[in-house]
Formats: sequence, C-alpha cells, structure tokens
Amino acid sequence: METKQKRVLSLIQPSGIPTLGNYLGALKNWSDIADEYECAFGVADLHAITVRQDPQKFRKQVSDMYALLLALDLKPEKNILFVQSQVPTHAQMGWILDCYTQFGEMSRMTQFKDKSKQHADNVNVGLFSYPALMAGDILLYQADYVPVGADQKQHLEICRDIANRFNGLYGDVFTIPEPLIRDTGARIMSLTDPTKKMSKSDPNPKSYVSIFDEPNVIAKKIRSAVTDSEACVRYAEGKDGVNNLMSIYSCVTGLTNEQIEAEFAGKGYGDFKNAVADAVIASLEPLQAEFKRVSSDRAYLEQCMKEGAEKAMYVSSKTLNKAMKKIGFYQFKK
Ligand code: TRP
Repeated sequence: METKQKRVLSLIQPSGIPTLGNYLGALKNWSDIADEYECAFGVADLHAITVRQDPQKFRKQVSDMYALLLALDLKPEKNILFVQSQVPTHAQMGWILDCYTQFGEMSRMTQFKDKSKQHADNVNVGLFSYPALMAGDILLYQADYVPVGADQKQHLEICRDIANRFNGLYGDVFTIPEPLIRDTGARIMSLTDPTKKMSKSDPNPKSYVSIFDEPNVIAKKIRSAVTDSEACVRYAEGKDGVNNLMSIYSCVTGLTNEQIEAEFAGKGYGDFKNAVADAVIASLEPLQAEFKRVSSDRAYLEQCMKEGAEKAMYVSSKTLNKAMKKIGFYQFKK
C-alpha cells in the first residue's frame, strides 16, 4: 500500500539576498527534503509589510525570492511554491485566528518585544499579531512538519496552542504541526565575529557571504575569516572561528568533523580556508547560474507563480471553509 507523504510547510520573508547562513541553515535543507515530503514553500510578503517597504524594491525582492525558490529545485510540478499575498485565504485565516488568540499570550512573544524596540517608530498591530498570520499559513495546509530555526520556535509553539484551542472547541479541524529538526544544517556564524550569527544586516560585508557573491569575493571573505593562533583544524570549545568554518565545510561537503580533522591533519589554516572557499563556491555556482536563468525568464516565472497560487488556493480553501463552517459563518444552501 502506498503510504501518504507527510506535509511540510515553510515560508521565507523576501528581505534581500540571503546569506550563506540562510542558505545552509534553511534553504538548502528545503531542497534536501523536497522529494521526501509533500511540500508547500512560500514567500512571506504579507509578513514583510510589518516593516515599511519601498514599493519598487519590494516587488523586486518578492520576484527574486520566488525565482530563488525555483532555482533551488524545489519541484514546482510536485510541490506547492507560492507567494503568500497571491493566496487570499492566508489573510482571511489570519483574521480568524486573531480572534482565537489571547492578547496576553501574544504579548509574550520575544520577537515582538525585540522588533518593537528596533522599529520604535512603527510598532504596528500587524507586528504584534504576526504569529497568528503565521499560524494560519501553517494550519491552512494541514502541515505535519515545519522546518524552523531557533528564532521561530516560539511562533510554532503558539501556533500549536491556537490549533489545539480551536480543535478543542470545534473538533479536529487542524493538524497539529511539529517542528522539523534537521540533523544537518547548522547555525552559521559571522566570519569576522564568530560569536554572532551571520547576518545580512551586519554593517561589515566581510562578516557574511551573500549567496550571489562572485567566486573571488567569496574566496576573499573566507580567507580573511577570523580563526585562532593554534593552527590546528579541530572542533573544540573556544575555537569559534575554526568551528564555524568546519560547520560550513561540513554542510557543503557532507563530511563529518572527524573526517575534516583527518583531511587537514598537519596542515595550516591557509590550506583549510582554500578548501572551504572552493567547496562553498562549487556549491553556490549551480544555484547562481539557475537563478540567473530563471529570473531572466519572466514568462516562466509568472507561469509558476500563477500555478503555485492556484494549487495553494485549492488546498488552503478546503481548510478555511471547514473552519468557517465550524465557527458558524452563513453558508449558501447551493
Ligand atoms: N516568520 C517567518 C520568518 O520570519 C516566516 C514565516 C511566515 C514562516 N510564515 C511561516 C515560517 C510559516 C514557517 C512557517 O522567518
């Protein structure tokens, strides 16, 4: 008997070109699971307007992010690849779930507290209720698993709470999602300060590799990464810089730390950094080439977007209708 594939869902915000950290920590993992699960991946443009966006840049960032999903080979013929704002059920479900979320529980979200400090001049209600919109994204597709990084764990937790509360009132409407914890895919740190997470908002561009950096730029940044004075490639406490380069190397080659230590036994950091740079360049090159191809073929891109939105609409409206019926919204007799 054919067993049904489990559903995975995740969205990414269209906030500029991802870094190597975003790629290895999340996106590469998406392409690794695109065959194994029935996946829905989306560009979270509704979430993005919780901070002010420049209209022209925003449009481009959304289409670039969508092109990147296609370039990642996420299998648009099998999986659902969509832009959130093109699937109206998300905004509808977001409102409904707002009404099943308590002000008090939402007030505990640490990301809201952090972001409202960062954007003190625009602490809007959307920023506050953001996790309810995200819960809707997940629950609409009856997702079994959500690959999440540490920063989104609390949001997945509140999603589960909201879903359990709704199911408790109305019966089994929503699948309760679990976090998809991956065994690979590391937290990649800054190249200039390996105690901090790699981030594209870091003012020092040497601290991160952008996935669209040219090969010579990547090589330069990795060669100037902070290490230590021991000159020994081994994974150990206090060797944050070397540990980070080892994690990067491990993610792109699939080698374990022991294998990496063996490969560089008796060699210096120069050799090691060259090998890391070469491996990173080799893993990004096909992605960069495919992105170029896809983003210059507007007709293909829009075709995929439209089909993705239709598929997303088909699946998500089933759940939305079910929830609305349970709540008691008026339904036509037909
Ligand atoms: N909030 C997530 C982020 O900023 C993006 C996101 C929106 C998401 N909806 C989601 C992630 C649903 C997982 C599932 O990274």
